[in-house]
Amino acid sequence: MFPFKKKGGLAGVVAGQTAICNIGHDGSSLNYRGYNIEDLIKYSSFEETAYLLIFGSLPNQAQAINLQQDLIKYQAIPQPICNILEQLPASSAPMDILRTSCSALGSIEPENSTHNQQQIALSLINYFSSCLFYWYNFATTKTRINVCTQQKTVAGHLLALLQQKIPNPEQVKDLDQSLILYAEHEFNASTFAARVCVSTGTDFYSPITAAIATLSGPLHGGANEAAIKLIKQFATPDEAEKAILKMLQQKQLIMGFGHRVYTISDPRSQFVKAIAGKVQSAEGKKLYDIAQRIESVMWREKKLFPNLDFYSSLVYDQMGFNSSVFTALFTIARVPGWSAHIMEQRANNKLIRPDAEYIGPGRQKFIPIGERNA
Ligand code: COA
Repeated sequence: MFPFKKKGGLAGVVAGQTAICNIGHDGSSLNYRGYNIEDLIKYSSFEETAYLLIFGSLPNQAQAINLQQDLIKYQAIPQPICNILEQLPASSAPMDILRTSCSALGSIEPENSTHNQQQIALSLINYFSSCLFYWYNFATTKTRINVCTQQKTVAGHLLALLQQKIPNPEQVKDLDQSLILYAEHEFNASTFAARVCVSTGTDFYSPITAAIATLSGPLHGGANEAAIKLIKQFATPDEAEKAILKMLQQKQLIMGFGHRVYTISDPRSQFVKAIAGKVQSAEGKKLYDIAQRIESVMWREKKLFPNLDFYSSLVYDQMGFNSSVFTALFTIARVPGWSAHIMEQRANNKLIRPDAEYIGPGRQKFIPIGERNA
């Protein structure tokens, strides 16, 4: 009767229609509005991809220039947000910082006729990067950094905030490509949460806040942070192989492997693995060799392949990002995808409210409180 009864988690259930992204329909493929990710990472940039998702088509030259100017403007976070960020303890999780910032921005710069959904979507991309590093620097050293890096790209802005200097262009390109790969992914858990939220008629910030909360779990966005912790546990590939075999025997999950939709491979993984493979440092090469061994053991033993989170964790680690912000980087990249889905849901809205199969007790006789057993 219920299509999800056998496997649970709505696996295999078509929960709606979308024209934004199609994934995995031939086992492994990924297109954003009909453009294959391979073309997007070769010929486009994260900004162009964000525009494609938010506005529905790739920008022309004039639109690309306006987009760049808008994004630079949104590097500066409103002062009340800085005041809030200064109250948040150093022990906070970076995802909590983004969730709180998003919710507060909904009060401080509410959606209205002069601040529309597309502008909010664009603003959140760079606001989130700035909020994260403003909070981090204030919480750890009481320094109020200047978050207006004037970098022309989102990747450049992030790296400049991290490194507090003009970033290396090759690193900017590598980060840009990883952000493109993270930008959109159909009805994943956080996107679906956003669509459910906005289907009730909320403002634009509420579904993004819900999406951030949903992304933070280790089975979803939190996997990249967990993956680097796993890889770093081992000193050699042989040690990793032994430990992974043991973990599999104990039925433990290996983070960064497996996928709900893809059956053959994650099409994003080869591109991010190629970036990870460019590593130069001895420590980086060691981690890359360990990761490759884990990949071969997982395929040999379980026919499971790395998802985007596995090798992206190495890329972010090599760039100098602390593992605690990896999921926040995913969040920043996913803002365009979430935004596109929120707008698509609004454009043809129907409250999302599925049925449930009741499996509880039959009708019970009501016993007044004084007559119930202790
Ligand atoms: N490590 C070890 N075994 C795994 C696994 C992993 N990462 N992913 C799936 N499996 C195993 C399951 O234990 C299950 O084995 P069983 O049939 O013996 O019980 C089988 O593969 C099918 O897995 P299932 O849990 O039904 O798949 P799912 O579609 O519900 O889960 C994920 C998809 C992504 C949640 C799951 O693969 C996972 O938890 N991966 C690790 C977290 C992660 O990387 N998340 C990021 C996703 S992009």
